[in-house]
Amino acid sequence: MSTIKHVAIIMDGNGRWAKKRFRPRIWGHVRGSGVVSDIVQSADDQGIKALTLYAFSTENWSRPVDEVSILFKLLKKFLLKEQSRLIKNNVHFKVIGEINGLPEDTVTLIKETEALTAKATGLKLTFAFSYGGRSEIMRAVNQFQIQNPSKLMTEDDLSARLYRPETGDVDLMIRTGGEQRISNFLLWQMAYAELYFTPTKWPDFTAHEFKSIIDHVSCRERRFGNVSAQTSLQMSIELAESNKTNFVQGVLS
Ligand code: IPE
Ligand code: IPE
Ligand code: MG
Repeated sequence: MSTIKHVAIIMDGNGRWAKKRFRPRIWGHVRGSGVVSDIVQSADDQGIKALTLYAFSTENWSRPVDEVSILFKLLKKFLLKEQSRLIKNNVHFKVIGEINGLPEDTVTLIKETEALTAKATGLKLTFAFSYGGRSEIMRAVNQFQIQNPSKLMTEDDLSARLYRPETGDVDLMIRTGGEQRISNFLLWQMAYAELYFTPTKWPDFTAHEFKSIIDHVSCRERRFGNVSAQTSLQMSIELAESNKTNFVQGVLS
């Protein structure tokens, strides 16, 4: 069974994809938004438990107003188009981030989609929208301090106060578009994630490439600070051998 349960993706490269085709950046976002449902479907087909997609960062607010407003419109369009499919496929949908600055009708639609899928037991699909990893952590810290003014916070206390604690740690983070950075994404949850950077720009990303990345990463050994399983086995054998020798020597002496 695959150890990859939670996959996070930084969907990057839309602007450069469009620029290469002499089109405006927003064209890249339009094409990129068309890829999302294929990847969600593929995650579900591969038995992944949680998929978190980075769609708009807190830093992206500094982009030109027109670009920002297209991104909001694309989110709304996605939800209108996909809502019934999410329900049918038993997908539990949530948005993480500070969505209050979004247009009111989009916020209403997000809340409606979250409510309609709240009881779903299948894939946990999360859109990180107006999301920043540092502000997620600070929000959790502040919440804890208000609730427990004189207590020291533990890691579990913090984890429990993240936007969507039930998705747990990230096993694999994929970034499309060729940049090798994490751009303020899921900082806490990615402490031990496998990282995979592909040069493919998001509008060209396919379910086929997604699957081959998962297959490739599933073969990596994740050690979590431990020695490798092979080394550990070898050490146990050596220990057993030396115990046997000591025992024999003890009997003979
Ligand atoms: C990712 O594509 C989408 C968002 C950040 C909203 P970009 O718009 O960052 O595309 P590039 O990186 O400029 O090519
Ligand atoms: C990260 O991409 C955010 C999303 C994909 C939503 P950016 O394009 O904003 O990141 P930087 O600026 O290259 O770090
Ligand atoms: Mg980018």
